[in-house]
Amino acid sequence: MSESIYIPAGATKEEKYISLLPQIEALISGEEDKIANLANISAALKEAFGFFWVGFYLVKNDELVLGPFQGPIACTRIGYGKGVCGTVWKEGKTLIVPDVEAFPGHIACNAASKSEIVLPALKEGKVALVLDIDSDRLNDFDATDQQYLEQLKRVIEEML
Ligand code: SME
Repeated sequence: MSESIYIPAGATKEEKYISLLPQIEALISGEEDKIANLANISAALKEAFGFFWVGFYLVKNDELVLGPFQGPIACTRIGYGKGVCGTVWKEGKTLIVPDVEAFPGHIACNAASKSEIVLPALKEGKVALVLDIDSDRLNDFDATDQQYLEQLKRVIEEML
């Protein structure tokens, strides 16, 4: 395994995703431990994009529980249907929130977080975890993020 993620200098956001996704697939392909792989995926996303917070919440019984992440300390448990993450768990589809303060019931783990994208990953037809990425800038996520992060989520689903 190479020691770090390589992203071409001056790459656009789309070019970064195109470069990063095969590297993530390679990174996790030789390892079967899910937590180890989720930890490296969050680190790779942080390294490539410098996101404010990137990590996973894992479905455990009737709650989401904080999993591997990179960034400031975060809420450890989120209820079904609560906040952006709990809503994505309930609805089973990606949500882009351009302004977290405008999202009813948003859970502010960190006041610096301004916008976010959350994607569900399914196992046997049920949401098994969500990938949550937060930015300290408003309106920082768009259809490009959604397109490539949904590719990543399919890679994650294959290992769940
Ligand atoms: N903002 C999220 C909570 C998780 S953190 O931001 C790390 C939410 O509303 O679900």
